[in-house]
Amino acid sequence: MTTISASSDTQPLSLEQQLTQLETRFASDLAASPSTEALEALRVAYLGRSGELTLVRRAIGSLAPAEKPAAGKRINDCATKLEELLTQRLAAFEQAALMAELEQRIDVTFPGASPALGSLHPLRRTTDAITGYFERSGFAVLTGPEIETEYYNFDALNIPPDHPAREGFDSFYLDGGLVLRTHTSPMQIRAIEAHGTPIALVVPGRVYRRDSLDARHSFMFHQVEGLLVAPGVHLGHLKAALTGMCRALFGPEQRVRFRPSFFPFTEPSAEVDTTCPGCGGDGCSTCSGTGWIEIGGAGMVHPNVLREVGCSPEKYSGWAFGVGVERIAMVRHGIDDIRSFYENERDFLEQLA
Ligand code: PHE
Repeated sequence: MTTISASSDTQPLSLEQQLTQLETRFASDLAASPSTEALEALRVAYLGRSGELTLVRRAIGSLAPAEKPAAGKRINDCATKLEELLTQRLAAFEQAALMAELEQRIDVTFPGASPALGSLHPLRRTTDAITGYFERSGFAVLTGPEIETEYYNFDALNIPPDHPAREGFDSFYLDGGLVLRTHTSPMQIRAIEAHGTPIALVVPGRVYRRDSLDARHSFMFHQVEGLLVAPGVHLGHLKAALTGMCRALFGPEQRVRFRPSFFPFTEPSAEVDTTCPGCGGDGCSTCSGTGWIEIGGAGMVHPNVLREVGCSPEKYSGWAFGVGVERIAMVRHGIDDIRSFYENERDFLEQLA
């Protein structure tokens, strides 16, 4: 132990000498400390309550008063220096430990674990395929409100309040003349009101009907509405548009047929079928042996509808259609239960991704 008092047979060391020696010894002890635990022991041995430097500091009491301030400062400087060296060394140990851990964990040649990626829902992809086909021909894509007024959902579409077609829609009515839209057709009216004619657009969206949920029905489903109004538009254009769409969706051999039908907002009206992709038209279980699949309704826009939005039926004519997205997606993917689309089962969704 180094103290200020002289041992019996040697010259007493000056404070400076003692501290220099102490610092040298500390440096070599530090270099020889193999761990953070050893560093802590070293700190106690030099700077602790009865550490070497602490003892040197205590001996200041025996110095002449004039020497005390300089001695105190020198000892404090020494303490600061030792602490700094300890801290540096500790940081180096921690860094080394971290690196060792990282080296163990990261094998950069190891194949990465691929993260589970999400994908677009099959209904969304079928919707995009339908709207994409028309977008490529210059049609605009618009969306509209799911809560509609009775005016847009019915009246403006030539369905007056007492019309039996209102019953057929099995609507969800809300207070204040509002209704959950039963089809995307109200957007025919809104779009012409907002943008005038000529007009070419498709409208994807949800629609609601009071149907009970089973393998083929849902109280909410998706449609894509199509509308083209311009001078000289005729039924042949409608058939070409829907045939082109079905070929884009199902392949180049696809055929489309119109069955006469009735909608108050089109005249003439048709139900639209396409050859069953399951059997190519020969008849199978998907198409109940008919060879055809119904995908929606269509027709030439009724003159009353054009008049309602201030468009002259003498100058303009138009076609419109509304197709069921679930129907088309079911046929595309060979799915026989509409509920599978709404259950968010990962296995099901991944299979179709
Ligand atoms: N809105 C009709 C329905 O939902 C489909 C349709 C749209 C028919 C456009 C003709 C024209 O059943």
